[in-house]
Amino acid sequence: MTITIGLSKGRLLKESKGILERLGQDFEYIKTTRQLVIKDEVRDFNFILLKPSDVPTYVEKGIIDIGIVGKDTLIENKRDVYEVMNLPIGKCRFSVAGKPENIDKMDQSLIRVATKYPNIATNFFSEKGKTIEITTLNGSVELAPLVGLSDVIVDLVETGNTLKANGLVVYEDVFEVSARLIVNKVSYRFKDAGIQEVIQSVKEWEAAL
Ligand code: PRP
Repeated sequence: MTITIGLSKGRLLKESKGILERLGQDFEYIKTTRQLVIKDEVRDFNFILLKPSDVPTYVEKGIIDIGIVGKDTLIENKRDVYEVMNLPIGKCRFSVAGKPENIDKMDQSLIRVATKYPNIATNFFSEKGKTIEITTLNGSVELAPLVGLSDVIVDLVETGNTLKANGLVVYEDVFEVSARLIVNKVSYRFKDAGIQEVIQSVKEWEAAL
């Protein structure tokens, strides 16, 4: 039975190199191809390349059996899937950041927040009892405080290079995230052997790190 594996394009794909090689795949080909579905007929795998935020959607609907995706995506868009492994890749943290001279904006009665993660940002500030006005963006979030669109941003920080390059600093950390292996609930029961084989390969890859 074919096992369909969803891969998050971008940074996480680069970090998935070891896992893909463990599964017998040509990583360079997967990384550079514009093909969206890559078939391995020998091992009976289909790999599908997706925007990270779409991976849980396809897994929930059963189009994809297993996906590699960041915990950030899973928290922001809750989907009914099994999270079977915490992976040692895609490690970064959510932080609130802004211009160094504007840190007192965090004490204002209304904080203007720009983010790609409106649910995570809303929960964080509401737990602190803060009122916020959210602007949801699709990328380059660091621009928002620079041009006065927001007081702060809530965004992922990995190396800190993007913040630094734009003269922004972290005001507060929200939580840490890493990538997860997720599985469709029906596939988990009915494609048990194939799914367990993939999980075993990922475990072997992890053990050899
Ligand atoms: C992510 C994130 C930050 C940056 C953090 O954006 O939203 O902007 O990476 O990484 P760093 O701390 O290593 O600099 P991404 O590169 O995915 O692009 P985007 O801004 O278009 O969303």
